[in-house]
Amino acid sequence: MKMPIMDRLHADHINYAKLLNLMETLLANQKKGSDEGYFELYLIMKYMTNYPDIFHHPYEDIIFEELEMMPDVDMNEIEKLKAEHKKIYDVSKALLDELDAVVNDHIVEKDRIQNLAEIYTSSLRDHMNTEEAKVFPMINDKMTQASWDKISNSLKQVNDPIFDGPASDEYKSVFGQLVDEG
Ligand SMILES: [Fe+2]
Ligand SMILES: [Fe+2]
Repeated sequence: MKMPIMDRLHADHINYAKLLNLMETLLANQKKGSDEGYFELYLIMKYMTNYPDIFHHPYEDIIFEELEMMPDVDMNEIEKLKAEHKKIYDVSKALLDELDAVVNDHIVEKDRIQNLAEIYTSSLRDHMNTEEAKVFPMINDKMTQASWDKISNSLKQVNDPIFDGPASDEYKSVFGQLVDEG
């Protein structure tokens, strides 16, 4: 049985994919020598460590744990995704720290930002693709009304600070176009 929270998590993935594309454009320009885009990357990672890392992935963990109680589920796939949430969180924190240092004019190894960002964008993209292709369909197929009822109190809808608004002026200046594209 499918629940509205699954539409929300799917919509989140589409939003994150847009931000990953923007990150990759900025990083590619920096690799070619540009010194611009660090503040935008900092804002993206500030968002990623505040919304996806605090709501999206923990919500998935709650649903995944319930899914693991269902018969005939691929436990390896689900355990792998849960471990990736932790890894993605660690990389996102490390990347945010580096970007925070850059925007505050501290000396930072720009290669380290490139490396962390490459790990971050590719691991989050692969992770979302597995969820969309394999695990979300399993959730929609296997989860019962009773299993959703059990966890519904832990899955309260929260506002996404960029895509639901009201976005701060800081976010609007960078993400306005992406949000308007819908
Ligand atoms: Fe996830
Ligand atoms: Fe996800």
